[in-house]
Amino acid sequence: MTAVGEARTAGEDPLVVAARRARERAYAPYSRYRVGAAVEAADGSIHVGCNVENASYGLTLCAERAAVAAAVAAGVGAPAGVRLRRLVLVTDSEPPASPCGACRQVLAELAPDLEIVSIGARAVRRWRLGDLLPDPFGGDVLGGDVRGET
Ligand code: THU
Repeated sequence: MTAVGEARTAGEDPLVVAARRARERAYAPYSRYRVGAAVEAADGSIHVGCNVENASYGLTLCAERAAVAAAVAAGVGAPAGVRLRRLVLVTDSEPPASPCGACRQVLAELAPDLEIVSIGARAVRRWRLGDLLPDPFGGDVLGGDVRGET
């Protein structure tokens, strides 16, 4: 991920390019805050999402969860469980956005060791998901081997 800074201008990192494109498709007529997300699965495939707002406000879908849903729907989860390696977020804010709490919980289910890069108007921020959400609620407390089950 060393090329992320350069990728902002050179467009070299395909994950950054995909997140930027997804952001252009965001449906955000209420907040006007457009978010693009792209996840890279363990098999190298890329899946994108954007925020989709709703007049009810509360039903708004975040870009990160939309990208996760796209990855699962594309078959990334079958048969041995979803494995996501990287997430790139693109916004136009300063500071860059960090994933909301709901998205952190959803990401933790599928990619506890996820590398997150957030590109804003001027800066780039990076985290490990485990640092953003230590000790998430997990399926282990529900009994059985949840991972990989369909
Ligand atoms: N949003 C995301 O897409 N991801 C986040 O992690 C935080 C917020 C969206 C939801 C809403 O459409 C807009 O940003 C403002 O909250």
